[in-house]
Amino acid sequence: MKIVSVLGARPQFVKASMVSRALRSSGAEEVLVHTGQHYDGNMSAIFFSQLGITEPKYNLEVGSGLHGEQTARMLERIEQVLMIEKPHWTLVYGDTNSTLAGALAAAKLHIPVAHVEAGLRSWNRAMPEEINRVLTDHSSTLLFAPTATAVQNLYCEGINGNLVKFVGDVMYDAALFYGQQAEAGSDILSHYSLRPKEYILATIHRAENTTDRSRLQAILKGLASIADKMRVIVPLHPRTKRVISAHSELQRASASLQMIPPVGYLDMAKLEKHARLIATDSGGVQKESFFYGVPCITLREETEWIELLQLGCNRLAPPFSAEAVKLAIEQSLNDISTTSESPYGDGKSAPRIAELLLS
Ligand code: UD1
Ligand code: UDP
Repeated sequence: MKIVSVLGARPQFVKASMVSRALRSSGAEEVLVHTGQHYDGNMSAIFFSQLGITEPKYNLEVGSGLHGEQTARMLERIEQVLMIEKPHWTLVYGDTNSTLAGALAAAKLHIPVAHVEAGLRSWNRAMPEEINRVLTDHSSTLLFAPTATAVQNLYCEGINGNLVKFVGDVMYDAALFYGQQAEAGSDILSHYSLRPKEYILATIHRAENTTDRSRLQAILKGLASIADKMRVIVPLHPRTKRVISAHSELQRASASLQMIPPVGYLDMAKLEKHARLIATDSGGVQKESFFYGVPCITLREETEWIELLQLGCNRLAPPFSAEAVKLAIEQSLNDISTTSESPYGDGKSAPRIAELLLS
């Protein structure tokens, strides 16, 4: 059984690390294709070395660009790889441009597509990720849904139920596998002189929060309004860094925040586990806050991970103003995230995916 896995962006490296390991143990032949969507050392290489992911056989080096431009470059180069490799399956993850390009290239060559993290919906078509997810799901032959809600979403869109497999969330597998290792393996708290439960961790990278400067300013000012009482540490995505660097008002708004470069997965897990609160617009980080029992505010109008809202472990904080962000932080600082519910499966999603692909 030969599988071509298409990866390109940070969250995909985390997810693939678990599935690739399971595929290796099951004896499948996996060929890794890195589109090159993320390319900085701390956005890509660090994940391969730290998470033990095999070196990609192909690096397509597409780099950054406009959506059409970037996706088109990927499509052209993935098609060439698939024609050479002729796999039984093409495996894609999540909702990035790399996901859509992998799915489209394979579907047009009549190579079955398997989609990890199928069925997620924000119902907001202005998000590039929503377009990528919907089109990928509708091009897929096997749809690995992480939650019961995702299964339901796919049924509602008329996707044949036999193609949909509720496997749980591979990010939960990763948190269980690496969460413990992070305790001993990361010295990030001492590196930044952070004391457990005495800092807020924030990440910001979503298109709507970086292209719209008033939203970014509201987030930065909202976080800064707490910074005199509690340190705020922000591993900064290169996209957000670029925008802040270009605008003096954003630099002023963030002066009291501690901006650090993006960190590796173990350092991130340690930062998350010991944070008093997490403020984020990331999909993965929202769930990790839940896995580690840390209250979270989501700097968006909606979330695909609605279980977190239903369980009271997450609060939406649309960044319409600095006051709105500040209020959400203050309300959530005293939230206690305790539940015995486990909407993201049992931590064995990756072996289940490998088994289904092989069968
Ligand atoms: C992409 C995904 C998003 C995902 C995120 C994970 C799409 C449409 N978006 O967003 O769903 O949540 O990855 O982090 O696929 N850049 C660098 N170095 C890098 C990578 C990016 O400097 O290694 C900068 C470039 O200026 C680039 C910008 O970041 O233009 C945005 O990168 P891109 O990959 O297009 O989108 P992300 O915002 O990372
Ligand atoms: N992450 C990381 N270092 C960072 C920021 C995030 O290792 O500096 C990890 C995070 O723990 C999660 C994944 O990257 O596993 C989430 O990626 P991101 O927020 O970029 O994308 P999203 O999940 O929103 O698509």
